[in-house]
Amino acid sequence: MNNQQYSYTFKTLSGLEPLLEKELIDAGAEEITPVKRGFCFLGNEELMYRLNYTSRYGIRLLVEVLRFEFSNKEDFVKQVKAFEWDTYISTEKTMAVDAVVTTSDLFKNSHYAEQLTKDGIVDFFRNRYGLRPAVDKEFPDMLVNAYINGNECVMSVDSSGESLHKRGYRIAAHVAPLNEVLAAGIIGLSGWKMDSDFVDPMCGSGTILIEAAMLANNIPAGFYRKRFGFMGWQTFKPAMFERVKKEASEKGIEFEYRIIGIDRSDDSLRAAQRNIINAKLNRDIELKSGNFFDIELEKASFLMFNPPYDARMPIENSREYYEKIGDTIKNKLRGSTTWMIVGNEDLWKSIGLKSSKKIPLLNGMIESRLLCFESYSGSKKFDDKLNIETNGKE
Ligand SMILES: C[S@@+](CC[C@H](N)C(=O)[O-])C[C@H]1O[C@@H](n2cnc3c(N)ncnc32)[C@H](O)[C@@H]1O
Repeated sequence: MNNQQYSYTFKTLSGLEPLLEKELIDAGAEEITPVKRGFCFLGNEELMYRLNYTSRYGIRLLVEVLRFEFSNKEDFVKQVKAFEWDTYISTEKTMAVDAVVTTSDLFKNSHYAEQLTKDGIVDFFRNRYGLRPAVDKEFPDMLVNAYINGNECVMSVDSSGESLHKRGYRIAAHVAPLNEVLAAGIIGLSGWKMDSDFVDPMCGSGTILIEAAMLANNIPAGFYRKRFGFMGWQTFKPAMFERVKKEASEKGIEFEYRIIGIDRSDDSLRAAQRNIINAKLNRDIELKSGNFFDIELEKASFLMFNPPYDARMPIENSREYYEKIGDTIKNKLRGSTTWMIVGNEDLWKSIGLKSSKKIPLLNGMIESRLLCFESYSGSKKFDDKLNIETNGKE
């Protein structure tokens, strides 16, 4: 077997780095070093297939193909042209280039870097074959990533293609869906032990529920995806990928609890139902219509949700609404553990309860916190734990 080692960079969302690092260690990555919102590491081709298919927390896995210093525009194009791009695609296939420029005298914007990279690749193909691959910005067979820092360039091919948060199960939209990787990430950060019912009491289109059910059933994160970037390359080895997929589904998990979604909006419940059926998880997830403020659970459970908080889902009297969330946790969820991702400091303070954990995260561009409220059924402990923060509520 070809066991050539490659240098990879795997990117994630801000706040999920510890989860991604653990995935890399577990998958056998070597020489793992942190970079901004991700890690560089070494590994073989099979590892790249495995990570794309199984990683719950990664967004994009890049394979480094070229690293050079350049002195001017001509030198840049010459060095791009010197790489054997036909390793990855033939002239009948398609390509696109993404560039990130930090500081550079030559490149004032990323668009120019993309243009010159494309020119170098096209020159290579024209010289060797008299033909060139077409550009397809939406679904290219080879997506090249050029990272330029000063006069240094690292060029990679994107083995994921479309961002890995596009799991493939979402067919019904919602005005404010949670990114799938972030949904998996908040479950991962919470350390859910799968030893109680899991409830999303404001489930929207069901992202948190589906990610929880995938975890509980050991369904690989990439199970529903039809395509990964590496599948368009000349190097693609279908038999190796089939083996990786089979191995990923072998580990069984015994999950004996319920996964329940609640929402007060019929539109949201309909969207959740469509996504859940599409993911063939309708036997694993129950949906109910209801208002969180009237919640009644049969037993102590693990709750996780993202209440509305941004411009996409405005709420009237938002402070009062968040105070009511706090009251509901305090009065109706005794014995349960409640996790919530909230993107507005004023609002999370309005909850009026002391969180036992507060983890900073970015939800898109919104600075958010993942908060945990733990309450115990014994009243003494409960009151100790749910000590009220000093905003005058108690
Ligand atoms: C931000 S969205 C949740 C998005 C969801 N995580 C997803 O990925 O699609 C908030 C949801 O909470 C629901 N909601 C708001 N207040 C509620 C309440 N008091 N009781 C039940 N559902 C509520 C809304 O109908 C909406 O579907």
